[in-house]
Amino acid sequence: MSCVQLTLRLFLGNEASLGPEFIPKSRGVVQFVDDLLDSNSTTKMVLRVVIIGAGLIGPRHAKSVISNPDTELVALIDPLPNAARVAQELQTSYYPTVEAMLQAIPKPDAAIVCTPNHTHVPVSRELLASGVHVLVEKPVSDSIDNGLALLQFSQRPENAQLKLLVGHHRRFNPYVLKTKQMVDAGSLGRIIAINGLWTLFKPEQYFAPPGDWRRARSSGGVVPINLVHDIDIMHYLFGPIVRVHAEKTLPQRPNPPHEAEEGAALTLRFASGVVGTFLVCDATPSPHNFEAGTGENPLIPKCSSGADFYRIFGSDASLSVPDMTRWSYDSRPDKSWNQPLTVEKFDVEEATPFDLQLAHFVDVIQGKAEPSCSGEEGLRALLVCQAVQKALETGQTIELDQTILEGNR
Ligand SMILES: NC(=O)c1ccc[n+]([C@@H]2O[C@H](COP(=O)([O-])OP(=O)(O)OC[C@H]3O[C@@H](n4cnc5c(N)ncnc54)[C@H](O)[C@@H]3O)[C@@H](O)[C@H]2O)c1
Repeated sequence: MSCVQLTLRLFLGNEASLGPEFIPKSRGVVQFVDDLLDSNSTTKMVLRVVIIGAGLIGPRHAKSVISNPDTELVALIDPLPNAARVAQELQTSYYPTVEAMLQAIPKPDAAIVCTPNHTHVPVSRELLASGVHVLVEKPVSDSIDNGLALLQFSQRPENAQLKLLVGHHRRFNPYVLKTKQMVDAGSLGRIIAINGLWTLFKPEQYFAPPGDWRRARSSGGVVPINLVHDIDIMHYLFGPIVRVHAEKTLPQRPNPPHEAEEGAALTLRFASGVVGTFLVCDATPSPHNFEAGTGENPLIPKCSSGADFYRIFGSDASLSVPDMTRWSYDSRPDKSWNQPLTVEKFDVEEATPFDLQLAHFVDVIQGKAEPSCSGEEGLRALLVCQAVQKALETGQTIELDQTILEGNR
């Protein structure tokens, strides 16, 4: 041991004096000091992460945190008593509230908020106010006003070093990444139109307490829970949607207790001039949805025939997703309907979007990347959701007020 190492160890005394956020994963302070002083070592700083919400999706995020070498799961927070058991299975500490966690352990670096939609804003705000970076599940909020308030809070000068990201994890899905690569490279020519489907059957137990927020008008419904994903992907691929019209599907569930919408047929217009149609419904057995098509959710079996959920039409070619089939007249003598179409299939690499999203969150916190889905982008998707719901209520075509977001740049 060098003299400098010995002095530094004596100076540091114990791990607490250095601050646990600076201690690399699974290493004591002695090893850490050695690594720090060893010019050949490339020591990594491990981010201490907490998960808020131990329901359907929280434990899935927890697994990503556990498997990422740059992050350490330090607690699971949820007021429900059975969450303590989930925490035990994940081999992490359990606290019923964010406040109890902050009092019991050193401040974590980051949190992933996996609570019901109407709690996203107060929970995220509490974490940001305590100096914790936040990745909040989609939708960013249950209302535009609350979402805007959160965005403005995150942009206060005292919070300038803190990051707020929204968990539209499908931006990291390999099928979406491949589609974006092809669209951005001009493989389809100029994009003209998109046609999409999210149709699936949700069983009654999905809406039973404590998941009854999913059927409430104020917090649930297929639009903010599911369609919001597709809206965010469409924004990611084609830019902002500026106008929507919506027609309600025939209700299949009794109201009460099912207050929220089950489905809609939409027409969409994007700022770029691209137009789209989209059908969403959570009351019909169907393979035409992102989950069944990509197999990204282990709870929803993948459809072996790869039933398509997006068709993207360009001036040079069209693409269907997730079968990743491109149709064109490339290599034909004429670009004409009299020619047989050229059919090409593209491969997609295997990857877990939640893992990639977490790696991106780490990069953003470490200043290596800008957020792919910022609070503003999350709010942009919510604006469209609310416009769809308003169109369903009023029967009117809704123009989106993009100035709401412009004021927050
Ligand atoms: N990205 C995705 O693919 C995806 C998938 C499912 C759910 N989600 C989103 O994740 C969020 C959670 O969904 P879910 O299906 O896991 O819900 P859930 O109802 O199964 O679980 C939510 C949990 O949060 C807990 N909770 C409520 N208030 C809390 C608070 N103030 N502090 C701590 N815990 C609290 C509840 O007790 C419950 O255990 C929702 O916003 C949903 O839209 C995203």
